Amino acid sequence: MPTFLHELETPSLVVDLDILAQNLDRMAAYCAVHGLQLRPHVKTHKSTRVAAEQLRLGAAGLSCATPHEMEVMSGLTDDLVLMHPPVNRRKTIRLMTLPDSVRLTVSLDSLEAMDRLADTARDSERVVGVYVEVDTGMRRVGVQTPLELLALAARASDDDWLRWRGVAFYPGNVRSIGGSTGPMLAELGDRLAHFLEPLEAGGFKPQVVSGGATPIAWRIHEVPGVTEVRPGTYVYNDRTTAELGACELEDCALTVLATVVSTAIPGQAVIDAGSKSLGREPLPSDTGGWGALLDRPEVTVSRMSEEHGILDLSSSDWKPKVGDTVRIIPNHVCYVVHLFDQIHGARGTVVETRWDIEARGR
Ligand SMILES: Cc1ncc(COP(=O)(O)O)c(C=O)c1O
Repeated sequence: MPTFLHELETPSLVVDLDILAQNLDRMAAYCAVHGLQLRPHVKTHKSTRVAAEQLRLGAAGLSCATPHEMEVMSGLTDDLVLMHPPVNRRKTIRLMTLPDSVRLTVSLDSLEAMDRLADTARDSERVVGVYVEVDTGMRRVGVQTPLELLALAARASDDDWLRWRGVAFYPGNVRSIGGSTGPMLAELGDRLAHFLEPLEAGGFKPQVVSGGATPIAWRIHEVPGVTEVRPGTYVYNDRTTAELGACELEDCALTVLATVVSTAIPGQAVIDAGSKSLGREPLPSDTGGWGALLDRPEVTVSRMSEEHGILDLSSSDWKPKVGDTVRIIPNHVCYVVHLFDQIHGARGTVVETRWDIEARGR
């Protein structure tokens, strides 16, 4: 294994091990202080190495988006939640083949999904827990009324093979550039109460109320009723998290290592990392290109082809040379991780370790 960053083939993913450790510790401490159960979402890192560390630091279990993530993570914990309605029959059957030791829970928002799940659970003779997802403003999935929630809670409670475990919501809409989310948090609290109060009055007090996302991770304790949080991006952070005020650029652990391959055109430099390495997700402000240099954030990736990234040098006096190595902080780290097979762990310029991103793909 190469020992120094400049010896790696580019483009490569590099994570700063010290910053990763800080990010993991900070979230574990926040949850401990506020009595919140931490169930990190693995869709960001997709690797057992990081998940094992999250569990070691006190996470109660893990949240996943795909059956493949569930399968990979089932070797680490016996408490997994699929935060995506498993409506497709093959997907549901696949979940039933997880080791018996896994306490399996899925989140859903319809009677159709519940009926299909119950059928497959009965056929497989496997008990499956249910979170019912409510829409608190994200407008993605989630029941719209307390009556629908009550009906689904009652349906799950009545089924021999299902267990009603609680309510889930995803507050991805509660975010603002700079992080001034106070009024939005209050509104989130009201929306959640609108579901929880009739639920409790109807005799279905949830064991778990599961929410949370990195942009509001540090203030979710202000939302009454929340018992569990599922942040994902916090492990690595990215330019989006920084723009939303949930971290500083210095807290971004993951970069794409790239090489300057051309300086032929004045005012720009070209690197060997394009959209197939950096993704193509704009920042919330829709400014600032597709990524920025770690040590010169004023230099951004202003244009991309699949394998070429164009660095805009107009705000910098840096004079890159062909062969220079650069590190790019991506806009949205979850996409970027998904594009690579492996991550290199470094301290400074020394590469100490590398690990597979085992849960990528299907
Ligand atoms: C259902 C669900 N929960 C939790 C998360 C984690 O959000 P974040 O990556 O902002 O921490 C996501 C992210 O997409 C999600 O879809």
